[in-house]
Amino acid sequence: YLVGIDIGTSGTKTVLFDVNGNTIASSTVEYDMFQPEIGWAEQDPEDWWRATCQSLNNVIKKSGIKPEDIKGVGLSGQMHGAVLLDKEGNVLRSAIIWCDQRSSDECDEITDIIGYDRLIEIAANPALTGFTAPKVMWVKKHQPEIFEKIAHILLPKDYIRYKLTGEFATEVSDASGTLFLNVRERKWSKEIVEKLGLNMEWLPVVYESQVISGKVCKKAAELTGLKEGTPVVGGGGDQAAGAVGNGIVKKGLVSSTIGTSGVVFAYTDKVTIDPEGRVHTFCHAIPDTWHVMGVTQGAGLSLKWFRDNFGFEEKTLGMLTDTDPYVYMDKEAEQAEPGCGGLIYLPYLMGERTPHLDPYAKGVFFGLTAKHRRHEVIRSILEGVVFSLRDCLEIIKGMGIPVEEVRASGGGGKSKLWRQIQADVFRTSIVTINSAEGPALGVAILAGVGTGIYANVSEACDAIIKRVNVQYPDEKVSGVYEKNYKLYTQLYPALKNLYR
Ligand code: XUL
Repeated sequence: YLVGIDIGTSGTKTVLFDVNGNTIASSTVEYDMFQPEIGWAEQDPEDWWRATCQSLNNVIKKSGIKPEDIKGVGLSGQMHGAVLLDKEGNVLRSAIIWCDQRSSDECDEITDIIGYDRLIEIAANPALTGFTAPKVMWVKKHQPEIFEKIAHILLPKDYIRYKLTGEFATEVSDASGTLFLNVRERKWSKEIVEKLGLNMEWLPVVYESQVISGKVCKKAAELTGLKEGTPVVGGGGDQAAGAVGNGIVKKGLVSSTIGTSGVVFAYTDKVTIDPEGRVHTFCHAIPDTWHVMGVTQGAGLSLKWFRDNFGFEEKTLGMLTDTDPYVYMDKEAEQAEPGCGGLIYLPYLMGERTPHLDPYAKGVFFGLTAKHRRHEVIRSILEGVVFSLRDCLEIIKGMGIPVEEVRASGGGGKSKLWRQIQADVFRTSIVTINSAEGPALGVAILAGVGTGIYANVSEACDAIIKRVNVQYPDEKVSGVYEKNYKLYTQLYPALKNLYR
């Protein structure tokens, strides 16, 4: 057996797989995201650790297997978050996470210090509020008393690795999202780190994603139920890990993932850069390969926002037996016509990355009238998120990257309606595969490669991942969406100057 752990934004999901990639047991433990100010987002690393321990205990108990039968563990997680530790390994402040937008001044400073062209040459990406380096620079400026105690900078999943193994280590895919990595050479950039007044010793060892980075220590074994000495491989940032778990390991394959964020991800066999920096160019979790991805900040987050604030309609409760509120919301959205009578949603609840790179962007419902009803509002959220993913897809196509097959994944990928909206808006068929475990499966595969169960990632994916469903675009509906998408693309430019 192999275990994949995904430290997500809404919760940590731990999944136990057999070596054929079948899910044996799974457990998700949720936690909160704190927003002390508009555009800020923080989480407590101890919450991640508690959720990891609890979910590991749950899967081991549920499955009834012996801990020594688990041959390896892989770690995946939300990318970019800054976990700052002192020299004793204590957390210095809550982690500033991926969707936090406070560091726009620090991005300008980083660009001034390193130079835009040099940043693209080394880090393959411009300085963006989403990335780790600007968050650390924000602490340097605003919390010098914390900054001076920093001895280690870790990414979210790598904090869990430290708790599991005692090692300070990361791997290339997640390290790519820090802005400290030389993405071409797949190693830390001394030039960037030192010019920013930071210390190379604060950074963890960076491995290829499939390499064993440490073994479960005695204390972690007691707390998690794992056996002491179980190997833990590098793993991957949740997007690269999810790509492995969806088989996005060859040219022409693209995934569209709706989690808290929304991501269109394409495999590349060389470093391919959008000169405008609107999509990220990062190392893939497979040696000698890279990927590009467009990121929308508020994808599943938009629907969760609606769920948390407006719930779902009581009367639909009687019609259905499922306990998942998203299933009810889907049913409601199905009652609305495609295009929602001109109601268009801009999902910029946490600013936006692709394509606008604007931390100040905000959400919008455009075209609301007295005739609109609740189900249309819900459907407009589903459609708006997909418009934003279409922006990502268009840029990727424009870079000359082949798009032969789009695979839907993430929580949003479980919704047949949301997948159909993707098929109709993208005007391409949407494929689903035999496992919905995405990042957890991806890192379990990497753990299998690292421990010698599989020869390499591509062979493992060929053996494990099968296409099970295809949904095709409906030309008539596509036409309706095309009209709304045209309007959608004009709304941000019209509003841009009003956001600040
Ligand atoms: C990717 C990104 C998000 C997070 C959260 O660049 O910021 O997808 O990894 O899942």
